[in-house]
Amino acid sequence: MNSVCQILGIEKPIIQGPMVWLTDVKLVAAVSAAGGLGSLGPNAGQTTVTRDPIETAERMRAQIRGVRACTDKAFSVNILPGTNDIYTPPMLKVISEEHVPVVTYVGEVDEDIFRDLKGFGCKIVYRSLTPSAANARMAEKAGADIIVATGFDEGGSLPDKSLGTFSIVPLLVDAVEHTPILAAGGIVDNRGCKAAFALGAQGVYCGTVFLMSAESRMAESVKKAALTHDAQDLLFFRTHPYFYRTLPGKLANTLRAMHEAGESREVIAKAMGGFAGLRIGMLEGDMDKGYVSLGNGISFIHSIKTAAQIVNDITAGFESWQ
Ligand SMILES: Cc1cc2nc3c(=O)[nH]c(=O)nc-3n(C[C@H](O)[C@H](O)[C@H](O)COP(=O)(O)O)c2cc1C
Repeated sequence: MNSVCQILGIEKPIIQGPMVWLTDVKLVAAVSAAGGLGSLGPNAGQTTVTRDPIETAERMRAQIRGVRACTDKAFSVNILPGTNDIYTPPMLKVISEEHVPVVTYVGEVDEDIFRDLKGFGCKIVYRSLTPSAANARMAEKAGADIIVATGFDEGGSLPDKSLGTFSIVPLLVDAVEHTPILAAGGIVDNRGCKAAFALGAQGVYCGTVFLMSAESRMAESVKKAALTHDAQDLLFFRTHPYFYRTLPGKLANTLRAMHEAGESREVIAKAMGGFAGLRIGMLEGDMDKGYVSLGNGISFIHSIKTAAQIVNDITAGFESWQ
């Protein structure tokens, strides 16, 4: 049996990556019910901001219960531990109390948090923003069950190093001793998944393709616009923590112009408006005041499919690729 399916208790080795405002009960439950693993991102299901860590964690509890009401299949919750981080401790409490089966841990390895998660009985999917042989080995040693190798082709916040998916996946496959690797970045179809397996991955971790699903809460106008673009249209710019790429639009054009003019990361990040800019662009569909983050796989998405069709199409035939 495929090791990722075995560890996570799923049928098809595909994980929908967490995506701040863009994930919710509907999408996550649809991916999990179809045999993959759906993941609730920070701000899952929300349209308003709260800076209160307890309220943030309680909002996640409601989303977790919502997923459970739709499916009895496994799903994941995203945490992004950091320095002086006030959000993770109450989130860990909710994860433990709600018996969340899988946690997608993104950031630097913190052995204490790994130990806590193991104690709660969670499986840990570990993803470094900038993956390397060293941080993959560290995560394996700390007890990660699965490690994600994210290439520069991805959507969302890009790695600090410009290694493409074809470069980073075998690098991590060779670096670890026994932990299965998932390939992320630009994978939106069956040939991408097959290529990931050929490079030694045991499954795939996808964001952009699920943003373009029927169940995704991304604005319909943005889905329509994205169908008319390929990766060469995406605008690339530096920001915090590293880099981003977006569909063209008024704000996106300004951010790219600032990048070309040599503005600092700090100034560009401020102009982006943080994750609020992503909510305005992607949820509200206002590409003048917000931005739309997508990965290079957008070139190969030509129609809106259901999450179940996506799960089935991408993984079709995986049993024979082991
Ligand atoms: C709009 C957007 C928002 C994202 N937000 C998050 C997030 O909140 N947490 C996280 O760990 N990863 C986030 N990601 C990264 C995805 O989980 C995933 O790693 C990435 O989308 C994979 O690359 P792909 O888009 O080429 O499939 C985001 C990606 C996108 C496109």
